[in-house]
Amino acid sequence: MRKKIIAGNWKMNKTVAEAKSLVDGIKLELGDSTKVDVVVCPPYTAISAASEQVEGSQIAVGAQNMHFEASGAYTGEVSAEMLREQYVRYVILGHSERRQYFAESDESVNKKTIAALAAGLIPIVCVGETLEERDAGQIEDVITTQINEGLKGLDADQLKKVVIAYEPVWAIGTGRTATPEQAQEVHALIRGLLVKLSDEGTAGAVRIQYGGSMKPANAAELLAQPDIDGGLIGGAALDASSFIEIVKAAANS
Ligand code: PGA
Repeated sequence: MRKKIIAGNWKMNKTVAEAKSLVDGIKLELGDSTKVDVVVCPPYTAISAASEQVEGSQIAVGAQNMHFEASGAYTGEVSAEMLREQYVRYVILGHSERRQYFAESDESVNKKTIAALAAGLIPIVCVGETLEERDAGQIEDVITTQINEGLKGLDADQLKKVVIAYEPVWAIGTGRTATPEQAQEVHALIRGLLVKLSDEGTAGAVRIQYGGSMKPANAAELLAQPDIDGGLIGGAALDASSFIEIVKAAANS
């Protein structure tokens, strides 16, 4: 059985003060349930505060990006080791907003994934098609390239640690969610690609999250799908109550 994982991608939201109060709110409502892995991904500036605030709870802290080099002349970037020092356990890689606005490529996602694993971070590797690609019947091509290139060179042990997030670009921040059937279809496709990259056992151990306007109202039916193992939540993760409702839906699924 794959343990469900719910991660909040706060994007460029929350000051340190706001981050502390959001983590407090989540902590308060979460109780001590360990049925689901719960992750919050604040902006870099609030990571240290969030790490302090999650102490004594089962909430883990993630980052939203990192550089693949350990150090050097890369203005504005941070390394895996710098994140580890702040008690970060997860890192989102290849989010569609990074691909769209910051020229993230499958090649850089691959380098970052390898660097993150080497540093002991769990990468959350994001894939997903745009609306134009969906309408042009290119879902399989797009996802296949993103998975094969993004995860190139990983052995079975490394692959098992990776979390994948399927986030159809047209569903992110739009209020338009993939139907459970649409999402399941692509999750099953991803699982099939993982079998080809490794073997059935490894592919069966990898957790695949859905992301894109997931909220309390639709979480349960998405999480009921056989290959949906959690959620990467944007907007609904900025409010403790709605985030917790999604965590509860995952615990009950
Ligand atoms: P959303 O964002 O839940 O606001 O659609 C999800 C994401 O971008 O990870």
